[in-house]
Amino acid sequence: MNRLKLETMPEIPYALQEAINRLRVNVSFLGNEIKKIMIVSALPNEGKSFVTMQLWKQMAESGTPTILLDADLRKSVLQEKYGIAAEQGGDIRGTSHYLSQKLSIEEVIYHTELECGDLIPNIDNVINPSMLLESERFEQLLKYVEEHYRYVFIDAPPLEMVGDGEKIGSLCDGAILVVRGQATSKKIVKNSIRQLQRAGCPLLGVVLNRVEVSKGKYYYKKYGGKYGGYNYYADPYYYKE
Ligand SMILES: Nc1ncnc2c1ncn2[C@@H]1O[C@H](COP(=O)(O)OP(=O)(O)OP(=O)(O)O)[C@@H](O)[C@H]1O
Ligand SMILES: [Mg+2]
Repeated sequence: MNRLKLETMPEIPYALQEAINRLRVNVSFLGNEIKKIMIVSALPNEGKSFVTMQLWKQMAESGTPTILLDADLRKSVLQEKYGIAAEQGGDIRGTSHYLSQKLSIEEVIYHTELECGDLIPNIDNVINPSMLLESERFEQLLKYVEEHYRYVFIDAPPLEMVGDGEKIGSLCDGAILVVRGQATSKKIVKNSIRQLQRAGCPLLGVVLNRVEVSKGKYYYKKYGGKYGGYNYYADPYYYKE
């Protein structure tokens, strides 16, 4: 199988690592039926890719076979942000290549330096991926990864922007909703929950993300219980990069 390296995976502070660790532990208590998990948010920039990447890393480091599937086909930034490069040089191909060409699934799955962490990156963004996500090839891809890994973490585009998130969600076992602290309104969050319900995608929990340390306590109080009925998973503090 192909290999790639993540040249700029950031070291994150201890408090943030702990928050992601709590999230990982909560995910592992969800039961054997829950394998394909979409990480989603209402709006751009709430931290979906960040949370997906860190959760994938910690889950793999705990010795659990895990794959990250980049399904943000319009605006994936993982390659640029984490310095994804082929170990032997050369081109990398990913989700959109598999969906739009006749590549086999194995050709777009990469081993990484994490022994239990594989990755399907998205390298070339496409303008209108809806058709690709509706294709049988996408379903086949999900079926394959579900059979080969304990967890599949799917980095999705924002729910409010296009229908892609709902489509992906309809094929997953559940979603983790990332909410950006001090930014995303209750109304928007409620709308995302409705969209997930419509897609038949159970909401597994909410991550309150990018909460500034100094305001964390206040924010927790203000928003506590806000997602009534849903598990509140972790609050990865925002740190200035
Ligand atoms: N908990 C956090 N601590 C520190 N930085 C964070 C955290 N969460 C997100 N960020 C940073 O915030 C920015 C936006 O995050 P990210 O790209 O993950 O958002 P996104 O929801 O995936 O956005 P998009 O909808 O555009 O895909 C990035 O620079 C990321 O590194
Ligand atoms: Mg993203």
